[in-house]
Amino acid sequence: MDKQWILVFDSGLGGISVLRELMAVLPHEQFLYVGDSRNAPYGGRSTQEVRQLTLASVEKFMADRPVKAVVVACNTATAAAIDTLRAAYPERIIVGMEPAVKLAADRHPGGRIIVMATQVTLREAKFCALLDRFSGEQRIVPLPCPGLVEFIEAGRLHDPALNRHLQDLLSPALAGGADAIVLGCTHFPFLKPMIRALAGPEVDILDGGHGTAMQTLHRLAEKQLLCSSGQGTVELHNSLGTPEILRLSAALLHGET
Ligand code: DGL
Repeated sequence: MDKQWILVFDSGLGGISVLRELMAVLPHEQFLYVGDSRNAPYGGRSTQEVRQLTLASVEKFMADRPVKAVVVACNTATAAAIDTLRAAYPERIIVGMEPAVKLAADRHPGGRIIVMATQVTLREAKFCALLDRFSGEQRIVPLPCPGLVEFIEAGRLHDPALNRHLQDLLSPALAGGADAIVLGCTHFPFLKPMIRALAGPEVDILDGGHGTAMQTLHRLAEKQLLCSSGQGTVELHNSLGTPEILRLSAALLHGET
């Protein structure tokens, strides 16, 4: 039987940070990466819009490929659309993401934890539930970060204007002290060196990429759908469809930016 695909979806290029973790943890699988850069960023859109865009992107590929699992490698799309996706494809494995607040709280009990994410992620019920669960002992500081995703989508990772914008966003939150920064948007791991430089060496910087890859492994193993031999492959797709966006996708995947 032909291998089935694992579809990895994001609003744009951010999910490539998760794809890297998935490929490391699941080296024999066949991945299909779908980025919707034409409509990115999703982070300032209405919940309804994010839901429609997510469903439309996933549907397009589910129709003509054998897909065994969908990884929503986007905190924003997970917050707005994971329940709808699960209802639409009840027989598929659907793995979502949420900001790694639990991991941060486990590692820094009583600490001050800054959560960088999009406006959609921070206002949706899933994050409010996380806040309810972990606020109290820890101080959780939600930090909406509009304007960062655009730099990554444009491949402007070394632009001094990006560093200035990041500094404007992060400095007020850092002024109150921080034990950990949670990267609650899959685009942000690409900014880790800049965030590290601003936050200093002591602050723990965490993201959910590895946890999501492990969760995908467990879900596949549970259903006996793991591939345990053969060379893994990846196909990169993007709704923009231009050679530039595919080149940038490949560069981010191979750490060549
Ligand atoms: N990468 C996405 C996330 O994890 C969102 C970026 C966007 O605003 O489109 O939240």
